[in-house]
Amino acid sequence: MVEWLRVLFMVASLYPALVACKLRHYKFNVVMLNTTRLCSNKPIVTVNRRFPGPTLYAREEDIILVKVVNNVKYNVSIHWHGIKQLRTGWADGPAYITQCPIQPKQSYVYNFTIKGQRGTLLWHAHILWLRATVHGAIVILPKLGVPYPFPKPYKEVVLILGEWWKSDVENVIDEAIESGLAPNVSDAHTINGHSGPISTCLSKEGFNFPVDPGKTYMLRIINAALNEELFFKIADHNLTVVEVDATYVKPFETDVVLIAPGQTTNVLISTNLGIGSYLIVASPFMDAPIAVDNRAAIASLSYIGTTDLVGTRLVAPPSINATSLATKFTESLRSLNSKDYLANVPIKIDRNLLFTIGLGVNQCSSCLTGNRVVADINNITFVMPKTTSLLEAHFFRVKGIFTDDFPGNPLISYNYTGMQPMNMGTIEGTKLYRLAYNSTVQLILQGTSLILPENHPIHLHGFNFFVVGRGMGNFNDEKDSKRFNLMDPVERNTVGVPSGGWVAIRFRADNPGVWFMHCHLEVHTTWGLKMAFVVDNGKEPNETLLPPPVDLPKC
Ligand code: C2O
Repeated sequence: MVEWLRVLFMVASLYPALVACKLRHYKFNVVMLNTTRLCSNKPIVTVNRRFPGPTLYAREEDIILVKVVNNVKYNVSIHWHGIKQLRTGWADGPAYITQCPIQPKQSYVYNFTIKGQRGTLLWHAHILWLRATVHGAIVILPKLGVPYPFPKPYKEVVLILGEWWKSDVENVIDEAIESGLAPNVSDAHTINGHSGPISTCLSKEGFNFPVDPGKTYMLRIINAALNEELFFKIADHNLTVVEVDATYVKPFETDVVLIAPGQTTNVLISTNLGIGSYLIVASPFMDAPIAVDNRAAIASLSYIGTTDLVGTRLVAPPSINATSLATKFTESLRSLNSKDYLANVPIKIDRNLLFTIGLGVNQCSSCLTGNRVVADINNITFVMPKTTSLLEAHFFRVKGIFTDDFPGNPLISYNYTGMQPMNMGTIEGTKLYRLAYNSTVQLILQGTSLILPENHPIHLHGFNFFVVGRGMGNFNDEKDSKRFNLMDPVERNTVGVPSGGWVAIRFRADNPGVWFMHCHLEVHTTWGLKMAFVVDNGKEPNETLLPPPVDLPKC
């Protein structure tokens, strides 16, 4: 009897742990979808025949199992953008970095646990340009019983911003690679898969978001576009930003949100106007708008019960090159840094790195102009391996796949943001930068303005980082590092490096594995604006990369 009671007591005490972390199974079937959307009738690659794809819902600490089945003719891999993948690099997803792609008719189960994160992120294909249509939201709710650090919204809605090409995106990039020129810009922007009316495609309905009056809603905004940073606005309504990239921020009010590809932003909106219909616009931002798709996506927010007679309130999108507006938004972002959500900014730094970020030109005899546009970090145009992934090469110690001599500083220093002297040529290589487990890194991302002055949203896999500083021109250690914010800098996974300027980020390398870092403008990644860090194992068993799962795809 006593024994029974003991067992019962044991089971009961385990119970909270059992319900607290849940196993969540998802099946992602990658299939073609014939769609007549947006005045084109080309088939697109989708997950589960949906565009955007299904939302992955989870709670902090859940274990996620996503079985991805490839039923298209392309190789596929899926990345869980912003999920830290502690010791589970095998589930990160970038093709040839942490896994070989899933080949047609094959499948792979991504298996990872969500630890120390809650908020909005996104998943997307991480191979070729497939992420144009293969993407969706990740919504991570706080642990059961843990409230948001702001008033609980009445309802929440996911808004995914995207870009749409009338022609097949794989053809778009293949043609560009052949010619050595920039690829065609998109034909429309979208909000939850709809562009709203645009001149090149008449009478298409936009996404409508019906609201009850007198409530607070939370919008989970995701930029899933391939190549464009976007402004987001709603007529006559202010937005309160409460979170970016699944980290809480000090709330601030704004009438416009700037969001780069790969970034997410949660905002609260009060439906206090009570009546009417209001336009929502997503429009591009580019400092020097040379080649840009300037068609804004249009959706609407409408109060339930409003009749058509009231009419729709319009809103003008910011001008494309509204740099000061963009800067103002960016500089308003601060970590919440409350007792429950501390900003653990590394103070003592083990590695001080400076990477130049930009475009270059190399000679190319088969190209239309005799030159090819390339992109680089520290004048290195990164080349992906083809026969195995970097993570496998690292784990199994395969020689000849990569070297770990990525330079921590530019090989020659020059005037990065001026005209002369220039340094536009690049060398090709599969070079990684090696970091000891738990070392702290300060990385200056120095934009170069040699060809197209452009803001580069740089994304680091496997970690969040703190954005401790930002400025124009060449980074000046003596002067600029004094002004770093080490108190409450915003914490994120994707940061815009301003055109002709720099940002300083800090992170702790506490996740062993191989972690990709690249520009989240897909065209720049294609051109070579990418590299990877290799983080060694720590000494303790729980500081080592786990072995690969048995179903890890083969090249
Ligand atoms: Cu969102 Cu490496 O990507």
